Amino acid sequence: MKVIIGTEEEIAKQAAQQYVELLKRKPNAVLGGATGSTPLGLYAELARLNKEGVISFKDVTTFNLDEYVGLDGSHDQSYRYFMDHNLFDHIDIDKSRTHVPDGINLENIKTYDAQIEAAGGIDLQILGIGVDGHIAFNEPGTPWDSLTHVVDLEENTREVNSRFFKSIDEVPKQAVTMGIKSIMHARSIILMAIGENKADVVDKMINGPIDTQVAASILQLHPDVTVYLDPAAASKLSK
Ligand code: GLP
Repeated sequence: MKVIIGTEEEIAKQAAQQYVELLKRKPNAVLGGATGSTPLGLYAELARLNKEGVISFKDVTTFNLDEYVGLDGSHDQSYRYFMDHNLFDHIDIDKSRTHVPDGINLENIKTYDAQIEAAGGIDLQILGIGVDGHIAFNEPGTPWDSLTHVVDLEENTREVNSRFFKSIDEVPKQAVTMGIKSIMHARSIILMAIGENKADVVDKMINGPIDTQVAASILQLHPDVTVYLDPAAASKLSK
């Protein structure tokens, strides 16, 4: 794992450069999308670079990591809505090539991994990390060989994410998520973490044992992962 530490602004800009290089080399790349507050700076930077003509997304295909069960794309807390509003509406992407797992017709998720494969596989996957080490919505204990599936969300995850809802009762109890194996298939991975509340789990991910109790620790085995941290998220690195 390559670790890069900088201010929120610096890491957003540096991570965006990985997209610039990839899209120069492969304009029709397949990108893996993530939600949460962490990638917002990166998405703003990508939109800026697109506006300035430095990169184009017109031939890009995207697949998002996860979606809440029961929320359709018009719900302002759905991950489809998040992606449209925070990225897709601000870049020259063809929205028909953007994919977010279907949280309503759960039958459709059975083919999600096959769709990713058919598109050529993910070239670059962006990830955040939950305080319990989850990547996408792969909670502690998720098997390493998992593909896209439905999960019961941990109470703690629902509490943390309730800040975006009117109350915790409105936070869905289940989500659809790409599995660990789906994520590990990506050719390159960027994981970003910001803030002190991520510091302990970031250290576990990088320096701890590879353990299903910290889903992100499996990334130690991936050949091309770059971890971008702000100084607070990096403050407890033991090595
Ligand atoms: C959610 C998402 C994850 C994300 C995590 C952290 O649980 N499913 O993909 O990484 O939140 O979110 P934040 O970046 O807001 O801390």
